[in-house]
Amino acid sequence: MTDLLPSIPARELPLSSHAPGKCIVFGEHAVVHGAPELVFAIDLSTQVFVTHAGTTRLNSDAEAVRRNSFFRSTLEMAWKDGRPVEVRTVSRIPKAAGLGSSAAFVAGLAAAFSSATGGIDRPALAQRSFDIERGAQGVGSPGDTSTVVAGGYVAINGGPGEPLWTIRSPEHTWQVRRVSDPGWVWVVAYTGVPRSTADAVRAVGIRLAAPGGPELLEEFGRTAKDGIDAVGRGDRSTVAELLRRNQELLRAVGVSHPRLEALIEAARPAAEGAKLTGAGAGGSVVVLPIPGKESELVRRLARAGGLPFVVRPAPGGASLVES
Ligand code: PMV
Repeated sequence: MTDLLPSIPARELPLSSHAPGKCIVFGEHAVVHGAPELVFAIDLSTQVFVTHAGTTRLNSDAEAVRRNSFFRSTLEMAWKDGRPVEVRTVSRIPKAAGLGSSAAFVAGLAAAFSSATGGIDRPALAQRSFDIERGAQGVGSPGDTSTVVAGGYVAINGGPGEPLWTIRSPEHTWQVRRVSDPGWVWVVAYTGVPRSTADAVRAVGIRLAAPGGPELLEEFGRTAKDGIDAVGRGDRSTVAELLRRNQELLRAVGVSHPRLEALIEAARPAAEGAKLTGAGAGGSVVVLPIPGKESELVRRLARAGGLPFVVRPAPGGASLVES
């Protein structure tokens, strides 16, 4: 099934790897509770360089092992050999912005460590990256990590596409499938307001367990399922309508933010549809531009205080940089 997605081969240190960020189109938060989600890998990425060293450090910081839970969790789960390593990273993905900077770091570094310990196939790398992120964050779904391992458009728990793999946690099982790329350009814009994914996920979990929560979860699920189908057949106007509906649901569970709403409002004249993307409570918006109005949209978002990027799906997932 996953023949199209090459394994990570065995290599020796020093080596370098990279992984893309991601943009969630439909279904964030609800996916944590087993509902469908649609995500694509974006053409902003993180590059990781790993070499043997006297002490383990991240970007020259020896304290990172203690202070950075993603680094610590990756070392614990993917570098069992334990010999000290120097890790250096360069990233174009804004941090804590909902665009997958931690998933890219985890999957890129896990790919490098796994390569240096005999290689790994992609389904195992996806499960390992999810376990590492869960270990660091305590909560979450495999949507981000599976997307940055697979590249392209990915559906979690939905769609008719080619099955890629299944990811398991003690509570849930998620089916990961390919969605065909409709060839669209998207615009994302960061509010500049950082936030904690784990805090937002816990707050939404409480809301979804309260009266009316199961009905909201069902509506999230329906919206994402319809969204996966609409993207799969390239139906922009349905996607635009579903982006609006998904944003209403995200508002209802309390993860919108005045700066997100301001960007969505500013985008309106040049957008077919827009919503927050990622955990919300700050972070970023994703906008489907009116074709031909991409530059106007970027100007509007920048004038409204956002940091906009035109993004295209990155077809390849985490991989080694081979010379
Ligand atoms: O904001 P990010 O990039 O951490 O995305 C979080 C997406 C959630 O659905 C809120 C959590 C998850 O793990 O799926």
